[in-house]
Amino acid sequence: MEAGILTLDDFDFHDKTVILRVDINSPIDHKTGRLANDNRIRKSLPTIKELSEAGARVVMLAHQGDIEDYHNLIPLEIHAQRLAELLGRPVAFIDDIVGPAALQRVKELRAGDLLLLNNVRYLTEEVSTFVQFVKLTPEQLAKTWLVRNLAPLADYYVCEAFAAAHRYTPSLVGFAEVLPSAGGRLFIEEFGALVRVKENPKHPCVYVLGGARIADAFSMMEQVLSEGTADYVLTSGLNGEVMLLAKGYALGEPTERIIHEKGLTPFVARAQQLLQRYGDKILYPIDVAIDDQGRKEIGLEDLPTERLIVDIGQQTIARYITVIQQAATIFVNGPAGIYEDPLSAVGTEKLWKAIADAPGYSVIGGGDSVAAGAKFGVLERMGYVCTSGGGMVRFLSGQELPVVEALRRAAQRYQKTDKE
Ligand code: 3PG
Repeated sequence: MEAGILTLDDFDFHDKTVILRVDINSPIDHKTGRLANDNRIRKSLPTIKELSEAGARVVMLAHQGDIEDYHNLIPLEIHAQRLAELLGRPVAFIDDIVGPAALQRVKELRAGDLLLLNNVRYLTEEVSTFVQFVKLTPEQLAKTWLVRNLAPLADYYVCEAFAAAHRYTPSLVGFAEVLPSAGGRLFIEEFGALVRVKENPKHPCVYVLGGARIADAFSMMEQVLSEGTADYVLTSGLNGEVMLLAKGYALGEPTERIIHEKGLTPFVARAQQLLQRYGDKILYPIDVAIDDQGRKEIGLEDLPTERLIVDIGQQTIARYITVIQQAATIFVNGPAGIYEDPLSAVGTEKLWKAIADAPGYSVIGGGDSVAAGAKFGVLERMGYVCTSGGGMVRFLSGQELPVVEALRRAAQRYQKTDKE
């Protein structure tokens, strides 16, 4: 037991069916349709291997993409292939999740077999609960189609998806209500590392927040700034652009259209409130790079621009690096631009290198942020590399993680039953 959660050491998996929820949500190279980075897959290997070698029949559930990230909502066949390559053993894949074909396949598994079901986010109940359109109790999550049909075929539930521990869904919370449940090796390791960092972050504490999915960044900024956990927030990516809009800068049609199409317009008002309250702590871009038949940098006085803003500019980078160099703790989530494209990679590359070189303790998380760190060869010099992005951010900003709560409840229930 670790932090109130049962671990793999608590069960004998031999000849048992285990539902293993992994988080192998990975960046995809859309030109080739292949995985652009397999960090999360690699990090899941020890638990998968351990369960298989213990003689479990392993049924893996995972997600890829989501409604905000629709172009990444793809089948998991390429993930199964990569798992098989890395493990050196077959990993079966079925284009079904909980229909008759999937259930039959689960029943046919033998000790040690590995099966990956298809993307759970093809299920409405998984998506509507994760974005909280539908709020269910844990007991109701246990009665969803997925859990109702799959759980009776299983003996145990193991959650290795720390990166999705902030999501309240059937595949992440529901099974723990009805099966003896444990955290996988990576789940326990990441949770432990973040607990240590959260308990006593050294100041100045700087949050570097970019990326395109800014809802999490906003909730976190509101929390860490009001609590005084963050001394500075360095904004970039769409987060930085929304800050500029909140400051009254018109960005130009192409950039504003993207912000509007992504449904981010309401964040402008939230950004205004944050800037009013914590204006000296929130840094926003003072220059930007645009795509003008190549990278071109312009100052805020040149806005609006008819070209798309793709990155932060050199002056912003220099200003942010000064803050990073003086920080004692640095949390990083979300790149400054599209780091795969040389046109828009400069901000991310320079910031990430500065973070790796800075004397402060750095924690980097999130699929894209970690993939960018791997591309620029700096991950080894970061303090802790977390597979989790949104989950890390929420946990560090003081929110409960529903999956941690579910596994703790499961541990209490299991011990009680055990004693009786
Ligand atoms: C992530 O990429 O942060 C995790 O896989 C969770 O994904 P989500 O934010 O789409 O739930």
